[in-house]
Amino acid sequence: MGRLKNSLLTGRRRFVKALAVFTAGCIASGVFAFAQGKPSVLVVYYSRDGHTQLVAEKLAEKFGADIERLIDKKKRTGPIGSTAAGKDAIARNTTKLEPLTLDPQKYDIILIGTPSWFSNVTPAVRTFVLENDISQKKIGVFGTAHLTGIESCLLQLSNLIVENKEDAEKMPKLALRHRDLEAEVLSEKIDAFYGQIMNPEEKND
Ligand SMILES: Cc1cc2nc3c(=O)[nH]c(=O)nc-3n(C[C@H](O)[C@H](O)[C@H](O)COP(=O)(O)O)c2cc1C
Repeated sequence: MGRLKNSLLTGRRRFVKALAVFTAGCIASGVFAFAQGKPSVLVVYYSRDGHTQLVAEKLAEKFGADIERLIDKKKRTGPIGSTAAGKDAIARNTTKLEPLTLDPQKYDIILIGTPSWFSNVTPAVRTFVLENDISQKKIGVFGTAHLTGIESCLLQLSNLIVENKEDAEKMPKLALRHRDLEAEVLSEKIDAFYGQIMNPEEKND
């Protein structure tokens, strides 16, 4: 009888100890997750014809991000608008934007997207990066071109954001041609870009 009582007591003590360890673990992991916090992400982009918009929307989905489309007040379509678009991009002109609906300062990470216009950043995106102080943010850049110029366009964009050339080169970039917009290819490239931004110390080839 004494032995049974002892073994019941030991069992109860073990159970209470296990429960205490489990509870402490839960609290600790909860506190840890809270302290770590999930970074807030904003996707900001300009798109005239929808290609960069498609990428921006997929990125917003992947990162759980808010999304802001930049609206250029200057007409960029039609023969006259398109010619002016090319000229403004080459001349590295800024433009006038419709007011933003979201405050970039509220985000930890900002992903900035532009089409390439003759290997240059679009005036709308140039204006956004020059008018907003995003120097303290973690940044990734992305963009589309039909065939050529997207890499130099994104390097130009990175150099507008950070002063140091090496930092600009290192900035995570997602450079896409139209052929890369096929669902499976795009999803793979977005996964790699996600890895570069969220787990930069890992090798993300
Ligand atoms: C003014 C202008 C210049 C462009 N220059 C190039 C170019 O040099 N090389 C290229 O491959 N595509 C060029 N394009 C095509 C765009 O880069 C491409 O269609 C891009 O995906 C458009 O993005 P969007 O659909 O988001 O506007 C140009 C388009 C415009 C309007």
